[in-house]
Amino acid sequence: MARVLVTRQLPEGGTDPLVAAGHEVVTATDDAPLTHAQLCASAAEVDAIVCLLTDRIDDAVIGAGSDRLKVVANVAVGYDNVDVDAATRAGIAVCNTPGVLDETTADLAFLLILSASRLASTAEGDLRSDRWHGWGINQYLGRDVHGATLGIVGYGRIGQAVARRAEGFGMVVLHHTRNDTGRPGWVPELDALLVESDIVSLHVPLNDGTRHLIDARRLGLMKPSSVLVNTARGPVLDEEAVAVALEEGRLFAAGIDVYEREPEVHPRLLEAPRTVLLPHIGSASRETRTRMAQMACNGAVDVLAGKRPPNLVNQPDAR
Ligand code: DGY
Repeated sequence: MARVLVTRQLPEGGTDPLVAAGHEVVTATDDAPLTHAQLCASAAEVDAIVCLLTDRIDDAVIGAGSDRLKVVANVAVGYDNVDVDAATRAGIAVCNTPGVLDETTADLAFLLILSASRLASTAEGDLRSDRWHGWGINQYLGRDVHGATLGIVGYGRIGQAVARRAEGFGMVVLHHTRNDTGRPGWVPELDALLVESDIVSLHVPLNDGTRHLIDARRLGLMKPSSVLVNTARGPVLDEEAVAVALEEGRLFAAGIDVYEREPEVHPRLLEAPRTVLLPHIGSASRETRTRMAQMACNGAVDVLAGKRPPNLVNQPDAR
């Protein structure tokens, strides 16, 4: 039996794989986020950590756990919150949750494509605040989604799931990845895709190459009538530059689910016109969050049993 720290309360049934395997599950009773110092202290006393994207598992946490810890299982597909290099050097496995959230996240990306293009938040805000005084032919004039050109940046499972939805809307779908996908619509240069697209949706992981991928210069390439959607990771966008582009009418609208400094949202973005801002709910359906929790826990169970889990993201040395 191993000792497994689960950093926050997971959806019902989420820890079932750990319990079924007979492991001891350690959780904070108050479900408060663990401080960095608490994470370091706990890391030394457990064989596995099941954590969330809000837990910073950096080299200090990994170092603190290096004598005992065997696996860090992140309940998210993105794992930029985990220092994977440090884990690999320490022989600690890192797992994530690929595949189980693709369709749910693509649904949310499409919701943002539609709601930002059609100014849904602005219109609803007016209605709720008693600023809507009756139908008008020039009110809330958004942009058509059907027939528009959608540029997908990053063409992994979620990007492709968004593309499938776009086909149903009769959109022209382009995608950009560094390597040729061999699929119709591949655009080798990101700048060219931004110039061509009416709607741009971001689906890249966060790493040194994608931080501020969409900055002031690239926003300047986009059509003033275009719509930008981000369900990937906040730092992929320069939030201030996006807010300025919206204020100055150089970007028509934005639909954003993830932020550079969560849970803070750039004050200028909060004030910017024609935005739909959601609190990082891309994968937030009961079924998907339960599947994510169970997948992460299954990864930990596999590693603790000396097996190689299908959701391993690194190549730790055998311990
Ligand atoms: C992930 O899994 O990386 C998502 O951001 C969680 O919604």
